Amino acid sequence: MNSRIAVVPGSFDPPTLGHLDVIRRASQLYDQLHVLVVHNPDKEAMLPIAQRLALLEQSIEESDIEIDVVVASWSMGLLVDYAVDVDAGVLVKGIRSQVDVAYETPMAIVNRHLAHVETVFLLPDPAHALVSSSLVRQVAALGGDVSPYVPPAVARFLDTGARDI
Ligand code: PNS
Repeated sequence: MNSRIAVVPGSFDPPTLGHLDVIRRASQLYDQLHVLVVHNPDKEAMLPIAQRLALLEQSIEESDIEIDVVVASWSMGLLVDYAVDVDAGVLVKGIRSQVDVAYETPMAIVNRHLAHVETVFLLPDPAHALVSSSLVRQVAALGGDVSPYVPPAVARFLDTGARDI
């Protein structure tokens, strides 16, 4: 497995500025990056997977990220199966708090046992430390302005009310 190829997995429902910050910083650390939308059965989704993929692609295109980033989705099995398929040796996750550490640590250990895939945790830029998709979903559902928390493409999409269609 190639330790220069990394996967950034998540629900991305919707993508936030915190996600984009992690993707940008991972893009500076690895030669190839896969941003992977993973269906999380524990969470009720706001956006269909295809919409999350489109918003991620647009947000990355409009950012200053310089390397080619593959944006894909995965619902066919283990996350590490995707990593093995694309020869990625690393998973990159953003860690905002002790709650994230507690949630991510067992998954990181299991993923290493399952397929020798390492997990690298990146600490957020403090500006994004409190941003989460669930917070954005709540503000959007109640008609608030989400533009401080999400990339412009996501703000435009949520602003138009397209999510209700
Ligand atoms: O953005 P999220 O919801 O915090 O992302 C969580 C996600 C989808 C990355 C996480 O649930 C995950 O890694 N799922 C993979 C499922 C899997 O392979 N499980 C078995 C080993 S841990």
